Amino acid sequence: MERHIRIFDTTLRDGEQAPSCSMNTEEKLEIAKQLELMGVDCIEAGFPISSEGAFASVEKIAKAIKDSQVAALCRAVQKDIDAAWNSIKSAANPRIHTFLATSPIHMEHKLKMSPEKVLENIDYAVRYARSYCPDVEFSAEDAMRSEKEFLVKAFNTAIRAGATVINVPDTVGYMLPEEIYERIRYLYENVNGIENVIVSVHCHNDLGMAVANSLAGVRAGALQVECTVNGLGERAGNAALEEIVMALRTRKALFDAYTNIDTKQINRSSKLVYNIIGQTAPINKPIVGANAFAHESGIHQHGVLSARETYEIMKAEDLGIVENKLVIGKHSGKHAIADKLKNMGYDFTPDELANYYEKVKDLSDKKKNITDSDLEAIVNNKERFLGMYKLEHFDVHTTRNSTSSCVIRLSKEGDVIEGVSLGDGPINAAYNVINNLTGNICEKLVNYSIHSVSDGNDALGEVTVRLKSKDIIVTGRGLSTNIIESSIMAYINGINKILEMK
Ligand code: KIV
Ligand code: ZN
Repeated sequence: MERHIRIFDTTLRDGEQAPSCSMNTEEKLEIAKQLELMGVDCIEAGFPISSEGAFASVEKIAKAIKDSQVAALCRAVQKDIDAAWNSIKSAANPRIHTFLATSPIHMEHKLKMSPEKVLENIDYAVRYARSYCPDVEFSAEDAMRSEKEFLVKAFNTAIRAGATVINVPDTVGYMLPEEIYERIRYLYENVNGIENVIVSVHCHNDLGMAVANSLAGVRAGALQVECTVNGLGERAGNAALEEIVMALRTRKALFDAYTNIDTKQINRSSKLVYNIIGQTAPINKPIVGANAFAHESGIHQHGVLSARETYEIMKAEDLGIVENKLVIGKHSGKHAIADKLKNMGYDFTPDELANYYEKVKDLSDKKKNITDSDLEAIVNNKERFLGMYKLEHFDVHTTRNSTSSCVIRLSKEGDVIEGVSLGDGPINAAYNVINNLTGNICEKLVNYSIHSVSDGNDALGEVTVRLKSKDIIVTGRGLSTNIIESSIMAYINGINKILEMK
């Protein structure tokens, strides 16, 4: 019989732990809602004890999400478990996820605990978590480098104490698929009561094996895979959700398994996550990269035109990838835009629609053909909150062999402020003015990137900046056919975010 493979998404916890991937509460909530729409079984919303902000985000997500389970991570200690439960207790379907390391290297050097003490703590933590919540997952951190006999003892203890899910992480991405297969089979053969719980795999990608290892775990009997959108995560990342789901779907006969994921939401989910962390997919990334369905060589193009299956094993439309065709003209009304967005699978409020409509009208003055990709970029670049500063006007002068100058006018809560500055180039000059006008709140421009949303001379340019202020790093975004304007908008967007987080 076909097995249901549960997709446990940890983009908001393990994914967010990656350098440069931090997100604010609104961004996390937006991602959580998209994960719910995509059909993720369980959303790991965060590690509540780690900060007040982390607790608040998990709590907000727990209250908003109805169709997916919401999990909170905690170490195997009372105060962590209390925080985890307090953050998710109002969820429709909560799960406490507690973990403790079981490998010799972690027990000796990190925990400084004897194996006996580790077993005692597992027993305590799972029982204590069960006193709050009917669904408790126990992860044996660094399970794959643990001694297999000790791992059996750890999981026996967890199941006896009431764990409903046992997770077997390859925390450092060390294993190869055959080894994962053998380890999961060994656990099925030796752990008492394993048939009554969900066995889960959680693989990191240090050797580029995370997806292959997770799938080996599924073949060995695992019923849950922990993964992240776009494979975000510590170091080289976690297993990529989109790759796991499409491998299970494309090779269904081999796995005899299915997931609850609506694959048509994959492209949107990937874009949303990249957009929020200020990155774009590497062009050759499986499933979601720009080249994943592109055919350049004549032989391949000819083959695909005669029969798609010659060089394609998946359909782009099954992933919700929109055809880049002309959609909206200068005279399209709000209804046409609403219809188009609905066909593309977007949900929006009347206010959001009014905002997209204004942006489409503005854009149609500057750009002849507005395509699906343009519309998608407008939706993905929506302002997620109203900031203190707004761009009113700019004027840039730049030539090849001398410094550039820039005048910028901003509105600040009703007042208008204006400044002028020089710089090595137009963007440097613009950013210098903004720094002066905003009291140098941005201490460092960590990263600047630009990409064109569609083809042609009048394409929209999307700029993403990463800005640092003390210990905060934020992503700012701007979108315009004028790349100086998108650069300025991205910088102001970042500064508004810093101010919101202070
Ligand atoms: O990689 C890991 O071991 C983890 C656990 C906390 C599940 O992320
Ligand atoms: Zn992990």
